[in-house]
Amino acid sequence: EKGGYDHFMLKEIFEQPSVIKDTYRGRLHANLGLIQMAGVEDNLEKFLNAERIVIVACGTSWHAGLVAEYIIEEFARISVEVEYASEFRYRNPIINKNDVVIAISQSGETADTLAAIKLAKEKGAFVFGVCNVVGSSISRETHAGAYTHAGPEIGVASTKAFTTQITVLAMIALRLAKAKGTLTNSDFHRYLQELELIPDKVAEALGTNDKAKEIATIFKDAPNCLYLGRGYNFPVALEGALKLKEISYIHAEGYPAAEMKHGPIALIDEHMPVVVIAPKQGHYDKVVSNIQEIKSRSGKIIAVVTKGDTQVRELADYVIEIPDTSDALSPLLTTIPLQLLSYHIAVMRGCNVDQPRNLAKSVTVE
Ligand code: M6R
Repeated sequence: EKGGYDHFMLKEIFEQPSVIKDTYRGRLHANLGLIQMAGVEDNLEKFLNAERIVIVACGTSWHAGLVAEYIIEEFARISVEVEYASEFRYRNPIINKNDVVIAISQSGETADTLAAIKLAKEKGAFVFGVCNVVGSSISRETHAGAYTHAGPEIGVASTKAFTTQITVLAMIALRLAKAKGTLTNSDFHRYLQELELIPDKVAEALGTNDKAKEIATIFKDAPNCLYLGRGYNFPVALEGALKLKEISYIHAEGYPAAEMKHGPIALIDEHMPVVVIAPKQGHYDKVVSNIQEIKSRSGKIIAVVTKGDTQVRELADYVIEIPDTSDALSPLLTTIPLQLLSYHIAVMRGCNVDQPRNLAKSVTVE
């Protein structure tokens, strides 16, 4: 049932090209310039009248929410807040009838997320779910929703759920942008085409598996690791660090790259591996200067770059190349080598990759 892979996690990482396609199939029509999602279409007015969107989730789903914040604000110009469901539910949040709450959950059973939904409903908000498990508690408790079509995710470390969540949320952002006219026609069409190409590019990014394994042999005994990214790839840095922590038990932190000089830079010496997400689009030049700062303090740099990059290659100790895409969709690609890196490090450390200690696949108690 692991389909020839040693672990469910690896199988699920490699399923990403096909499950991303499954997730946009029938919804994304690049040739027609259309996005059709029943849950959004039926409630379009609610989305369009929303003064803001509040996203609630936990763990990796929360990271997908952060990526969505950047995408929805940029494409649809609707203000978005992202909250840990566990914090939201206990802090008497200000929620109005005109707020749209999006709850993201792979399992659809996370206790804190479910409680956050109930609270938002009590306060009169429209609650939209992004779940993977059909018929799950969260999918039943929300007013409407859109499923990710990732298929069963068995590995405790969430991988394909993350990329399919981003796929759904990007489609929502694009649909709203279309309705609001906040993207130019040509940008809108370009994004649809880019999204359609993502599965092939993810497949190409999976070609970094050997490279990730080689880098894993070098850093498998590191006690700490720092992950840095900016913009759309800041949440990917958080997600990369979470993946390393939970399956390899190496302490890791994710940071927005520019925050480094507000504290974490003090940690950097020749023993500190720093994974920097530095695709060509976005804040490339700024990330390059962050890399220079790390290098001058002898940090070991592992950089995720766009194919053909030369500037970062000169500075970094190790580079992992991924295909080019638009900035907003780049998390779907940059996250792939980070999943693989964590996986190989955990395997080399003899960890139980699919069922890491102290963790459950769905956290049904708070
Ligand atoms: O099922 P959910 O998406 O609601 O789960 C949320 C988190 O428990 C989950 O993402 C957790 O952080 C994963 N183990 C991360 O890999």
